[in-house]
Amino acid sequence: MNYKLNQGENTETKGTLRAAFAKILPLMFAERKNMILACIAILINSGLTLVGPIIVGHTIDTYIRTGDYNGIVVFSVILLGIYLITFGAGYIQTTVMGGVGRRVLFNLRNEIFTKLSELPLAFFNANKSGDLISRINNDTDKLNQFFAQALMQFIGNIFVIIGAGIFLLALNVKLGIGALLPALGILIVTQLISPWIERTNLKSLRTLGSMSGEIQESLANFKVIVAFNRLDYFRNKFAEVNAKNFSASISAGLANNIFTPLYGFASNLAQMIVLSYGIYLIGTGQLTVGLLISFLLYVNNFYMPLRQIASIWSTFQLALASLDRISEVLALENTMEVLPHTEEPTHAKGVLEFANVSFAYENGKEVLRHTNIVLEKGKTYALVGPTGGGKTTTASLMARLYDPTEGTVLLNGRDIRTYTPQERSQKIGFILQEPTLFRGTVRDNLVYGSTEYASATNEDLMDILQEAGLGHLLERFDQGLATPVGTSSDSMSLGQRQLVAFIRAVLRKPELLILDEATANIDTVTEQLLEEVLKKLPSTTTRVIIAHRLNTIEEADEIFFINEGGVTSAGSMDHAVEMLLHGSRTS
Ligand SMILES: Nc1ncnc2c1ncn2[C@@H]1O[C@H](COP(=O)(O)OP(=O)(O)OP(=O)(O)O)[C@@H](O)[C@H]1O
Ligand SMILES: [Mg+2]
Repeated sequence: MNYKLNQGENTETKGTLRAAFAKILPLMFAERKNMILACIAILINSGLTLVGPIIVGHTIDTYIRTGDYNGIVVFSVILLGIYLITFGAGYIQTTVMGGVGRRVLFNLRNEIFTKLSELPLAFFNANKSGDLISRINNDTDKLNQFFAQALMQFIGNIFVIIGAGIFLLALNVKLGIGALLPALGILIVTQLISPWIERTNLKSLRTLGSMSGEIQESLANFKVIVAFNRLDYFRNKFAEVNAKNFSASISAGLANNIFTPLYGFASNLAQMIVLSYGIYLIGTGQLTVGLLISFLLYVNNFYMPLRQIASIWSTFQLALASLDRISEVLALENTMEVLPHTEEPTHAKGVLEFANVSFAYENGKEVLRHTNIVLEKGKTYALVGPTGGGKTTTASLMARLYDPTEGTVLLNGRDIRTYTPQERSQKIGFILQEPTLFRGTVRDNLVYGSTEYASATNEDLMDILQEAGLGHLLERFDQGLATPVGTSSDSMSLGQRQLVAFIRAVLRKPELLILDEATANIDTVTEQLLEEVLKKLPSTTTRVIIAHRLNTIEEADEIFFINEGGVTSAGSMDHAVEMLLHGSRTS
């Protein structure tokens, strides 16, 4: 599955919209009571708006022309009442829908984030987090605006338009048709230019997304940028995406605003037709002055919401484009699902086995080709090879951070894909080359994800650590378990971070412990401590150690040499050194 989200110049919508509506509809369904309430309010509002003109016309014809001032006062009071109710209904509609919009926004953000948390590593490799943030923040907010403001206005306006249209035709068919003709023209023009408007809006949102991506990348790498004095480079790159976003949003603005003047023109045209034709009809006695004024008011009632719809339309188009980007994320499927486990393992060839495993990163070259490895229980394995040879990749496949493109990884004789993530993480401990810690304390990071240790008191935890031979490692932290941890290497040295990751993995007594360069940043004394801890692990623990330094792999039972798609058993340490030297000469 291709996990790369669409964000380039390609503005073709991907037909995921239907799927998106399927996601949105339940959210709207949950709000049905509020939406019905808002609908009733807006219908009252629109209905009263439609009664206004006929009352005005009636007042003119029956009272003003006869000079009956009492009647005028009565009808003025009725009109005032109508306007007050309209105001109240409008207020109810706005508040209710504001709440609906915010809740939809809340739920949608939750859904996207949940979806993101289910996606495999390959997805995050393929997409910039800035663009993802933009989808979660900006795009959902565009939808919120649509729900909070546009949707009910849209419904209300449609109602008024239809109502006004009916009144126009009912009061006088010929005059009515004349008044509605310009609207027909507008309809045709709108149909013609809508696709263009949709495209420009989508493009504008996408440039916004890639701008966020650029900002995120610059901020994440700011130290390097300063260290290499490449501020100009990032400034230029930013200026470029900013300019792209600028021109895209200008086009979007032009496209979105074309309707307002167009509809104004149509409205004026209609008034002109009604006025000239209406005066002619009055002259021939087919129409009264009051009716003509009612008519003009209805023309206004018809075209004004049309103009509003035009501006709502741009919110709607933006919301559609946003929905498209959101649905792209929601439509992604996790290809790393847990497979159903049916047959019992036949004969487990050791703890972990690569059976004919091939692997390539998306759009990358093949890192492993038809590889077969067996890791036996309780043994120590070393993976060596030149930089970029595929050691980390091999280890990642062992822990199912990725699935092989071909072949199977077996854990205890069972396809590793049939284990749940919890089962897997209990059996396999992986200390990454770049340790990932969470903001909090050393303790928080140690008990992370463990129901067993989370409830332990600090004293209990210290006892557990001592028992596992890990206690003295905590001396490397000035406040012990309470030492604060940041998310980047600002607060702690890389060696310290790897120590935390190391203790975290060993504490769980995994069946298979994988260390990726875990000792590269640790001083020799601490390194020796670590080696002792490794030796103290239960004899059933299988260890896979990736190290450039040869002394750390001396005691391995078997050494695998990994390079250019191949995993070969190096046999002896001397042979491994020879292969390394040879390998580095040829690559
Ligand atoms: N996320 C990724 N996306 C695409 N290609 C990748 C990714 N990670 C690694 N690669 C490529 O896969 C190959 C193997 O990388 P890997 O990280 O496994 O090497 P390594 O042996 O661990 O190197 P080192 O000794 O530097 O840690 C390299 O060519 C690398 O460019
Ligand atoms: Mg590596």
